[in-house]
Amino acid sequence: MKTNHLNAEKTGLAHADGKPGYILWGTVNAKGYIMTGISKEIEYYKTNFLNHPLFNYLNDDALSLDERLRFLPYISHFVMSFADINKYILPFATPANALERAVNTHAREDAEHWPWFLNDLQTSGQNSAASLTEHLSFLWSDNLINSRKLTYHLIQTLHNQSAKMRLIVIEVMEATGNATFDTLASITKGTDKQLEYCGHLHLSHETGHSMGSEDEIVDTLNLTEEERNKASQMIVECFNAFHRFFDEIFENVSPEHSRSIK
Ligand SMILES: [Fe+2]
Repeated sequence: MKTNHLNAEKTGLAHADGKPGYILWGTVNAKGYIMTGISKEIEYYKTNFLNHPLFNYLNDDALSLDERLRFLPYISHFVMSFADINKYILPFATPANALERAVNTHAREDAEHWPWFLNDLQTSGQNSAASLTEHLSFLWSDNLINSRKLTYHLIQTLHNQSAKMRLIVIEVMEATGNATFDTLASITKGTDKQLEYCGHLHLSHETGHSMGSEDEIVDTLNLTEEERNKASQMIVECFNAFHRFFDEIFENVSPEHSRSIK
């Protein structure tokens, strides 16, 4: 087994931190497939994602828990759309092998987390009464553009892809989810509010990896060099879409950027 650095030159794709190019390396097996490196690559972007200013906001002890949970309405569209991605986009209608079954097992679990979000909107006092037209205007407002674009980006990336590629996108979604729910579980620990989406319940259902498979299944996938290149492009583009989503949430909730919901 030898370790290769593959196509590490600049790609024109931008890191969310402004650096061009992406990390791309793996181990080539006897058949010429690239076996490892994806989990490390995703871990690199997860570490970068954790530096987003929204995490500083969420971890700021000077703010009350209510203030820190003000972001919840701004993720409404994405949370509900994410359930649909897991119900209608990710699964294979007739799974034909272990990888396709792993995708379906994972999707089935993540499709059912949205009721916890509705609970937390209620529990955190953010279930304000408004007309249907007011709710629709908010959900499709300019304040939530990046959240909607994230959904559409994930659908476009996943549509008609192989189980291997879907598992890699799942791993990116798990990395951003784990970063978020780990933070939320830590700041809501000890509260007497009955939080589910932002509490330990949700984190306990998020392994940080694709379910229905062993950890870091992405490192065991047999990928051609073309697939490996495509995987890296998908990883950086998905992380960038999540960064833009978090930029938007931060602009909506942070005091210096606070906007009116309407
Ligand atoms: Fe979840």
